[in-house]
Amino acid sequence: MDWFNYRDGQLFCEDVNVDELAAEFGTPLYVYSRKTLEHHYDELTKAFAELDPMVCYSIKSCGNVHIVKLLAERGSGMDVVSGGELYRAIKANANPAKVVYAGVGKTDDEIKFALQRGIGYFNIESEAEFENIAHIANKMQMTANAALRINPDVDPKTHAKTTTGKKESKFGVDIERAKRFFERYGRDKFIRLNALHLHIGSPVYSAEPYVNAITKALGLIDELRAMGFEITALDIGGGYGANYVHEQTPPYAEYAERIVPLLKPFVDGGGRVIIEPGRTIACNAGVLLSRVQYIKVGGQKKFVILDTGMHHLVRPAMYESFHFIWPTNVAPAHEPAQRLETMPNEGLDPADVVGPICETGDCFAKDRPLPPVARGDLMAIFAAGAYGMVMASNYNAMPRPAEVLVSGKGYELIRRRETYDDLVAAEMELDLMPI
Ligand code: LLP
Repeated sequence: MDWFNYRDGQLFCEDVNVDELAAEFGTPLYVYSRKTLEHHYDELTKAFAELDPMVCYSIKSCGNVHIVKLLAERGSGMDVVSGGELYRAIKANANPAKVVYAGVGKTDDEIKFALQRGIGYFNIESEAEFENIAHIANKMQMTANAALRINPDVDPKTHAKTTTGKKESKFGVDIERAKRFFERYGRDKFIRLNALHLHIGSPVYSAEPYVNAITKALGLIDELRAMGFEITALDIGGGYGANYVHEQTPPYAEYAERIVPLLKPFVDGGGRVIIEPGRTIACNAGVLLSRVQYIKVGGQKKFVILDTGMHHLVRPAMYESFHFIWPTNVAPAHEPAQRLETMPNEGLDPADVVGPICETGDCFAKDRPLPPVARGDLMAIFAAGAYGMVMASNYNAMPRPAEVLVSGKGYELIRRRETYDDLVAAEMELDLMPI
């Protein structure tokens, strides 16, 4: 579900013609729909309402402070994985008590920062990390809650690069080791180890892997309680799907139907459930707008060359992921009723959609059937709100795109386009040539 729709052949974000945004702010441009963000946050929260979970939006998926702020204002906590993301959460006025902090390589400075700010939970990934955090907390005479990240060894059936809950992954500790972990550290004075965390991967398009992982976690909680440890929270991570193609992901109710009854007894017994959704909130709320620079025809192949590429949206190059791409202005016959991997082929012409980066891998789509497109046309790359801008780089010294947030008929520039000066701003002064 999203609010990017064609009206008489023209793509609108909510009630704003996206061509007007491109004319005002230039391209490439990330455009977000506020209504879509809020819809997904609200629907997910509603689906899990019986558990009254602490929803911690995963900042890594789309981290502009304006977006973080609007979700914080809706009551969301934050899932962070670095000091920088914690900084974003604080800037956006998120409640630090509702921040969970994961990641296998937290540095001392990041740990101090998080302790000073009084975050909700450290999600701890290893013995060495626990010892370090406890040591720092002791020195600072501060206390904090911690969840042990367990690795439930389930296969979420997603891309190898985004699978995290299998035994051979670098994340968390396995269930057997978890018991020894609690025996060793479960009575620390400074870091109260009183919760479990898991995250199986992303995106996960069915409830089954969650059910398997949560069942294992609940079993472990029983054992830990029997050993005399208090477990007050279970963080079940993120990973809920998004619609890269039409109705690809099950409705939230379908996940909740299986997950809620499983966790209800834990909640009824006073336990807190935490969820960490990222993609499912941000993905369909954003498109990347790009101007066609050139059409190049060589032999049998046609290339549509855009002014954006893997430096601004790396997912196709990195995970072979599919993003629907379509001109923003088309003949009514070419309005896409649904966004599909294979579109009904009438009047479409296959082309490779590529970027300007000097790498063959800088390719969004191969042999993708498209309506007629010409130099200067505007294209929308859909479902780019999550893991889009956050993974953008300045490779080939290309400034990163601007970001605009649309709400109804209104819109706001929430990040300006980078300039050439930005590209060198952090580099130490040299006798630079005036330009
Ligand atoms: N919690 C933890 C501990 C995570 O590692 C992640 C994502 C999330 C929550 C949020 O997952 P989500 O709800 O967004 O699926 N760059 C990749 C995705 C990497 C996900 C990393 N961890 C992509 O573009 O597909």
